Amino acid sequence: MTIQTETLLPDATGIVRAADLLREGALVSFPTETVYGLGADARNGEAVARVYEAKGRPSFNPLIVHVARVSQAQDFVLWSDTAQALADAFWPGPLTMVLPLATNHGLSSLVTAGLDSVALRVPADPTAQALLQAFGGPIAAPSANPSGRISPTTAQHVISGLSGRISAVVDGGACAVGMESTIIGLTEGPTLFRAGGLAHEAIEQILGRTLASSADSDAITAPGQMTSHYAPAATVRLNALEAQPGELMLGFGDVNGALNLSPTGDLVEAAANLFDHLHQLDARALPIAVAPIPMQGLGRAINDRLARAAAPR
Ligand code: TXA
Ligand code: MG
Repeated sequence: MTIQTETLLPDATGIVRAADLLREGALVSFPTETVYGLGADARNGEAVARVYEAKGRPSFNPLIVHVARVSQAQDFVLWSDTAQALADAFWPGPLTMVLPLATNHGLSSLVTAGLDSVALRVPADPTAQALLQAFGGPIAAPSANPSGRISPTTAQHVISGLSGRISAVVDGGACAVGMESTIIGLTEGPTLFRAGGLAHEAIEQILGRTLASSADSDAITAPGQMTSHYAPAATVRLNALEAQPGELMLGFGDVNGALNLSPTGDLVEAAANLFDHLHQLDARALPIAVAPIPMQGLGRAINDRLARAAAPR
């Protein structure tokens, strides 16, 4: 489906329009000081599903959630003294922190790809700040490039990659930093997940210790290669047309089950429901049989995720 992509100015009118579009569940690209993000309401599963669709991502990698200020970030996670020290030193700025999810966080499970942690960032760019304040809620945003292409640092880069696939881009000029944020994991000891626009030495100075680096940081940035991806404890059988005795069925379209990813066969709805439904079935501790999902549009990413869930471990 091709839509008309609006180019908005970063003035009051443009920001109000961009915030309204986000509230409707539409996709809006906006500048941060690192790179342009492809934004969606982080609480709206179908809006988040459309982010993967627009980028043509072959798998569900967790996304960064952007908020206007530190107090808002604290609503979603278990905050810590370390997080506070890093926030005091580097927010707003090109730092992303991965923290344990709080209960009742309200974020779409597609944002976190079903993990029990979330990546948070308070950007400094004035256009990003204006949009986050006008919207008032959390914005999930990966870099605004088609999957496999380089990250955009101008509105023109966004247009050339995603025109016709997103509702709007707010043109706030060129990004000041021009490379992605540095990602620090704080769910265990402070760990460098991705080198980026903030030098890790500056972080180590605040922490008073050396950062561990993730065993293979490339594995984290490569879509879908994260070893920490959520996988159900139960065994998973794919392309099933009905449950065998003792199995729980995860349906799609006409193939019904204990839960159905989308009774109407809508892949956006199915993507939005995927991790919630897997978690719910997994909680019942029975083997899971999954209906066939067509290999088109978001079906590719859904099947990728299901194949990982079904892989022997
Ligand atoms: O500068 C940036 O960080 C830009 C701007 C738009 O904010 N965003 C960005 O997003 O680069 P993206 O989706 O291209 O990269 C997000 C990275 C991915 O490598 C993902 O694996 C990691 O963040 N990530 C997100 N949530 C995570 C989590 N819970 N645990 C570990 N890694 C996570
Ligand atoms: Mg990217």
